[in-house]
Amino acid sequence: MSIHIDAPAGSIAQTVLLPGDPLRAKYMAEHFLTDVTQYNSVRDAFGYTGTYDGKRLSVQATGMGIPSIAIYATELMRDYGVQNLIRTGTCGGMDNDVQLRDIVLAQAASTDSSIIANTFGPGMYFAPTADYKLLRTAADLAEHAGLHTVVGNVLGEDRFYNDEMDRQKLVDYGVKATEMETPGLYLLAAKFHRRALAIMTVSDHLQRDEHLSAADRQTTLDEMIKLAFDTAARVTE
Ligand code: HPA
Repeated sequence: MSIHIDAPAGSIAQTVLLPGDPLRAKYMAEHFLTDVTQYNSVRDAFGYTGTYDGKRLSVQATGMGIPSIAIYATELMRDYGVQNLIRTGTCGGMDNDVQLRDIVLAQAASTDSSIIANTFGPGMYFAPTADYKLLRTAADLAEHAGLHTVVGNVLGEDRFYNDEMDRQKLVDYGVKATEMETPGLYLLAAKFHRRALAIMTVSDHLQRDEHLSAADRQTTLDEMIKLAFDTAARVTE
């Protein structure tokens, strides 16, 4: 067991899907996995292991924001030997060419979080980057499934509510969408020499003040969740 995950050694699979919301973790386990066991309920950050397409996979809720996902990602890699981490979440579209319901594959993750500076010191701006094998696998599967997919740089920001940030400048430099976890996930995966990718549905659009309805949210999230499980199954031995 680790501090935030109360699971015996060996109970977590080598590939873990990471939704922020614990109830989405439960939904993913109940609707996509068979032979499911729940291995964690500490702080209601539910974790499950089961079978998908013949492969043993896990789902672990991470909570919101870099500090929270950093706890779960670190313990999964350091204490449970997890090899592949796939964030399975939502994001807010920033660029006008991004539409509600699109699936964003985060090739890289810019940030206003201090986690990069606190890791490398002043004057070094590490670029948190997706694992190429996971990214390529997900992009190929998405294309094959006919999903409208955007691959690019995202912003992983420290604050959901932040009217002081110049987001337009980031859009001008090609940033597609905003969320709150990916830079931390990619940084820690680099530290532990593991693979990571963020797959996200565009649930809101910041410039256009659009939001998915509850019904649309469920169907489009299902497509994204299936893509994440299919990607996980492909890269798992
Ligand atoms: N900002 C940050 N994270 C998000 C958003 C957003 O607008 N929408 C969904 N996740």
